[in-house]
Amino acid sequence: MIDAVRTLPVEQLTPDQAAVEIAALTEAVAYHDQRYHQEDRPEIPDAEYDRLRQRLGTLEACFPELRRPDSPTGRVGATPAAGFRKLRHAVPMLSLGNAFEAADVHEFVARVRRFLNLDAGEPLDFVAEPKIDGLSLSLRYEGGELIQGTTRGDGSEGEDVTANVRTIADIPKRLTGPAPAVLEVRGEVYMRRVDFLALNRRQLEAGKQPFANPRNGAAGSLRQLDATVTAGRPLRFFGYALGEVSESLGERHRTVRSRLADLGFMLNEPAQLCDGAEALLAYYAELDRLRSTLPYDIDGAVYKVDRLDLRHRLGFVSRAPRWAVAHKFAAEQARTKLLAVAIQVGRTGALTPVAHLEPVNVGGVIVSRATLHNEDEIARKDVRPGDTVVVQRAGDVIPQVVEVVLDERPDGTAPFVFPELCPECGSQAVREPGEVVRRCTGGLICPAQAVERLRHFVSRDALDVDGLGDKIIQAFFQEGLVRRPGDLFRLADADKTADTPLHGRHGWGPKSAQNLFEAIEARRQVPLDRFIYALGIRQVGQATARLLARTYASLSNLRTAMAAGQDRDSQAYQDLVAIDQVGPALADNMLAFFAEPHNQAVLDDLASEMTVADFASPTAVRASPLADKIIVFTGTLSRQSRQEAKARAEALGAKVTGSVSAKTDYLVAGADPGSKVTKAEELGVSVLSEDEWLTMVGGT
Ligand code: IVH
Repeated sequence: MIDAVRTLPVEQLTPDQAAVEIAALTEAVAYHDQRYHQEDRPEIPDAEYDRLRQRLGTLEACFPELRRPDSPTGRVGATPAAGFRKLRHAVPMLSLGNAFEAADVHEFVARVRRFLNLDAGEPLDFVAEPKIDGLSLSLRYEGGELIQGTTRGDGSEGEDVTANVRTIADIPKRLTGPAPAVLEVRGEVYMRRVDFLALNRRQLEAGKQPFANPRNGAAGSLRQLDATVTAGRPLRFFGYALGEVSESLGERHRTVRSRLADLGFMLNEPAQLCDGAEALLAYYAELDRLRSTLPYDIDGAVYKVDRLDLRHRLGFVSRAPRWAVAHKFAAEQARTKLLAVAIQVGRTGALTPVAHLEPVNVGGVIVSRATLHNEDEIARKDVRPGDTVVVQRAGDVIPQVVEVVLDERPDGTAPFVFPELCPECGSQAVREPGEVVRRCTGGLICPAQAVERLRHFVSRDALDVDGLGDKIIQAFFQEGLVRRPGDLFRLADADKTADTPLHGRHGWGPKSAQNLFEAIEARRQVPLDRFIYALGIRQVGQATARLLARTYASLSNLRTAMAAGQDRDSQAYQDLVAIDQVGPALADNMLAFFAEPHNQAVLDDLASEMTVADFASPTAVRASPLADKIIVFTGTLSRQSRQEAKARAEALGAKVTGSVSAKTDYLVAGADPGSKVTKAEELGVSVLSEDEWLTMVGGT
């Protein structure tokens, strides 16, 4: 293909020669576009590709009548770029906690009131809005001009889709009316149902795959490397939140909404001000009735505290705000046939039964797998292969088998017998007393566990290695290229030697191998909290990993403490269980993980390949007088809830523990404090009143 580029100067060509070359180049460029954009498998270096395109462009300029209608040169952004550029969000883009039932909504309102320490009579307003089933987007305006559009990504970092966003008619390129110098508007990109159906008809006519639902249609259309493709797609946008702003748009959400409308944004209606759980539930019932009359899909309602100052106090837990919740509509259900029950072995050895189903459309999504939860659930529902079952899905939750339609049970079925041996490695699979889960005892001997641990290690919230999908990990593992995490870092070295493991094998060009090595190389240094999370210790999620990172500060401290903590009478053990939210079960999992020789070998091996950066609190926190101080709260606080006080302390870099020891820096004592004050005084720990505490942290 490359020899399609001739060296003869264009002006010396006859039209016939030019026509032949244009035809060859048009085909060659289209071919490489396909490898690059659709398959992520380029076959030639970027410079080579550029040369082809350039020559084609010159030929077309000299012989415009010979330009072919299918010429790739007219396409915007078809030049190879390494996917989308990553952009960091100035303010993280969060997700929402879910409510499913009325009780969850009452609990949400009660939780907010408790946190804010509101008396029964004090008013608290919420704004209820439809929850749009699309994908969230952040738009940045500077001086009133749209300068950036970014997808949510992992919440901290998204993809730069500015060129695509500019093609969406609902999105103002310039704000109407006076606007803050910096304004980030967040909202949802979506597609109307009729537009979605028409798009799918066009896809089918063009011999392309149709989209499963409007949400996928919107996501697929926005994430096009070629913005002219996006331009042809019927995308729309609603604004519903703010990111970074240089100047306030108002003190309440409803004011912000009307300012957004003034600035040129479409709003998701109907929105309603509600003064409590009952009003929210009435809104929800009404929205459910309206649902089918709306021209786009919604999957529930979102309830948000109206006052922005209260939101500020409420803050966040992990990745969701305390001040908002998504109330999802009831699950969609459908009937289908259960073909087989497969047993999956997870990262921690848990055996999970998975239903393989005859594919069925459940509320717009084709479902062919569903979870059966565990052994007891299968027995309780008496699910048998061959049965007709009811499956349901709610929002992004994994589809599940709800029940068997007994009337339709065929003859000759037998109850499902749950295996007592791991189907992957043959080790005993045991159920600890009181546990619902049966676990394989094979540890890293079990290939399924080893593979799952590797997957987890490189997953987005862990080391976040781009380009190492599930299938690739599985293949690398099976071929013995990567058996444990440290092997990843040796992959590139191995590739440099004569018998190249990657380069040249099916699906891997020099470019894609190089991209992978670079992605791995970029992770030779990671922050301690990510590293702890990446280890995949049972019960250690992101929040716990951060807590542990903050407590132990460095990997070597953590390892030393876990070694010492094996003795349950040691101070190290006491310190571990004293960490707020670390109970004995979690402590046992931690200690068991670090005591296991396989795991120690994995850690030693990793230590020789990568650096784990000590935990660095954000700059603001480091400067705070409370940074690294150990604080205990006791008694009843009157101006803040215990939870708010604790959240505040943690936000300022302090550690909050449950009991007073010689290491405690401050005991904050509310009314009726009890014995902790005596203990603190004995140990010489400073005791603060609630007022003194508030002065220290700058009031409420
Ligand atoms: S507010 C801090 N309002 O739902 C949270 N989100 O499940 C800001 N969504 O990621 C989001 N409609 O993509 C908000 N009216 C609405 C929404 C909405 C849809 C999406 C959004 C978010 C997801 C969370």
